[in-house]
Amino acid sequence: MNPPTTDLLAAPDAANDARGRPVTVIGLGAMGHTLARTFLAAGHPTTVWNRTASRADDLVADGATLADSVSAAVTAGPLIVVCVLDNDTTLSLLDPLGDELAGRAVVNLTSTTPEDARAFHTWATSRGVDHLDGAIMVPTPVVGTDDTLVLYSGAREVFDTHHATLASLGGTADYLGTDPGRAGLFDLGMLDVFFAGMTAFLHATAMVGADGIAPTTFLPYARTIVSVLDEVLPGLAAEVEAGSYPGDADNIAMELAAMEHVVRVSEARGIDTTLPEVTRRLLATAVEQGHGRDTFSRIVEQLRQPSA
Ligand SMILES: NC(=O)c1ccc[n+]([C@@H]2O[C@H](COP(=O)([O-])OP(=O)(O)OC[C@H]3O[C@@H](n4cnc5c(N)ncnc54)[C@H](OP(=O)(O)O)[C@@H]3O)[C@@H](O)[C@H]2O)c1
Repeated sequence: MNPPTTDLLAAPDAANDARGRPVTVIGLGAMGHTLARTFLAAGHPTTVWNRTASRADDLVADGATLADSVSAAVTAGPLIVVCVLDNDTTLSLLDPLGDELAGRAVVNLTSTTPEDARAFHTWATSRGVDHLDGAIMVPTPVVGTDDTLVLYSGAREVFDTHHATLASLGGTADYLGTDPGRAGLFDLGMLDVFFAGMTAFLHATAMVGADGIAPTTFLPYARTIVSVLDEVLPGLAAEVEAGSYPGDADNIAMELAAMEHVVRVSEARGIDTTLPEVTRRLLATAVEQGHGRDTFSRIVEQLRQPSA
């Protein structure tokens, strides 16, 4: 498998080249419907299929073609974009097909795990289907704008052949390499950061809220610390990459004292301590193991080997 490469598409130019290229969208939930509408608005002859056909009504009114079966949908053109609930749903729709899919490209924009994406790639290859996996990293209102981010990995030739059509989704399309699981892995990594950050913000609002502070009063201070986090991340990444954790500007013993305050103050207010306790425990273990003078990024070693 190749190392990841990043390929940024200049969406407007590429999209202009793609007008007239047909695309099929399978799945018209919140995201699939948005994808179909975006392709349609960009001038692509768009064929759609959805289990609940009525979800296509407005798209058909605006020029989309409603296929009356999955088979009819996939044979409408060379590029099939799938965006359904999960990987099992994707397979339940495509596996019963005969050889209708052979020689066509399936871009699966259904969120999935790396393992499922690789298994789907093996299934697709066995059917003579060209498969590119994709992960949409923005909510539906952002799709079609310059802020769109879609990650792709898998068959490079599918990305190259159809990138002009995919660029109609707007913003940035990053090709991460031939490993079909890479896009899903990056998706999960981004979600890991996102949900931990949202949970931390909500915990903090509960903690300060117990003393009568409104979330909106605390908000500017939370945003300040998020911008500090943004500046700190490159240093963490470099330290983890180097496997070197010099505690020149900060150290774990000092950070442990701070997290003990967060846990104690939460407890005193009857606030759930699960989240700060995770960080406190990691820092305490690092100190117990003799790493109190190292910098925070050292805890990645414990995360890699939780039993050590
Ligand atoms: N919504 C977002 O903001 C967003 C953002 C990024 C990524 N995504 C990803 O996009 C994918 C779709 O999300 P969504 O928001 O569009 O979900 P959704 O609104 O719940 O739509 C689910 C889709 O899957 C179809 N489906 C479910 N079970 C099915 C089955 N057994 N057979 C056939 N079709 C079935 C539904 O058909 P029916 O209409 O007939 O129920 C519908 O088209 C997910 O992987 C999600 O993680 C979504």
